[in-house]
Amino acid sequence: MTAGLEPRLAGKIVLVAGAGSSAAGWSIGKASCVTMARQGAAIVALDSQQEAAEDAAHEVEKAGGSALPVQADVADPAAMQAAVDAALRRYGRIDVLQANAGIGKVGGPEDISLEDWDRIQQVNVTSLLIATRLLAPLMREQGGGAIVTVSSVAGIRYTGYPHLAYSVSKAAVIHFARMAAQQYAADRIRVNTVIPGLIDTPRVAKNVARMFDADARAASAARDRQVPMGRMGTPWEVANAVAFLASDDASYITGTELLVDGGLTGKYA
Ligand SMILES: NC(=O)c1ccc[n+]([C@@H]2O[C@H](COP(=O)([O-])OP(=O)(O)OC[C@H]3O[C@@H](n4cnc5c(N)ncnc54)[C@H](O)[C@@H]3O)[C@@H](O)[C@H]2O)c1
Repeated sequence: MTAGLEPRLAGKIVLVAGAGSSAAGWSIGKASCVTMARQGAAIVALDSQQEAAEDAAHEVEKAGGSALPVQADVADPAAMQAAVDAALRRYGRIDVLQANAGIGKVGGPEDISLEDWDRIQQVNVTSLLIATRLLAPLMREQGGGAIVTVSSVAGIRYTGYPHLAYSVSKAAVIHFARMAAQQYAADRIRVNTVIPGLIDTPRVAKNVARMFDADARAASAARDRQVPMGRMGTPWEVANAVAFLASDDASYITGTELLVDGGLTGKYA
């Protein structure tokens, strides 16, 4: 292959944290694993659920790529250290982190328990601290790297129903990335955030109908109607944005956010 036709992520080792899908089908993490593998990356598919990690790794291999499934809770520093060690044993380096694991629970200030609040912040935000502490020294030594965090429109707008713990955590994800970007710019470690809008993933299909007390098809159609483009996004459309920010095509981009929302955030009411 000529140099100009090299896949965009050729030779990169990418750790996708939250690589699986919480129900059958294509999640953002799983689509990201396959998208980046197709672009030449080897994938460390990390998930708290062993089966989900294996499923993502299997899809990468089916697409002709290389993947290592790893089971770890992103909020557990010892488990994450072990996961990074396993990745290094297999691939020798880590160039990219996609911090994709995210959980939430519907409710406002008077509904959410302190336990749920704490767990959501741990998984969605403290995990960034844990992973960055482990990976930034490694990336610095390697001469650079890229971290892509995954926020949500809920982190910048009220989405029409109370989802306080999740929304606050997703706002923190954006600011964590902005701050880390400043700190690591001189080390050639870029840190950016993808902000997905309403994306059609199995988790959404499973949860949204329950949240709105509607049947799944009606809930899904209601989500489609909210978006100026008339439809939810696909996990692949988010994965493409992640792959771009992870790649050297984004070599002068750090400390910013890329909205993948079909125009939702720019819409008036
Ligand atoms: N689907 C959407 O509409 C949407 C919109 C905006 C943002 N997002 C964000 O995108 C990301 C992926 O969303 P999705 O809909 O594909 O979700 P998903 O639930 O299908 O996938 C998330 C994966 O992360 C794993 N995970 C959860 N907690 C973990 C932990 N503690 N440690 C390691 N892995 C863990 C789950 O097992 C699952 O496999 C999340 O951060 C979510 O908040 C999704």
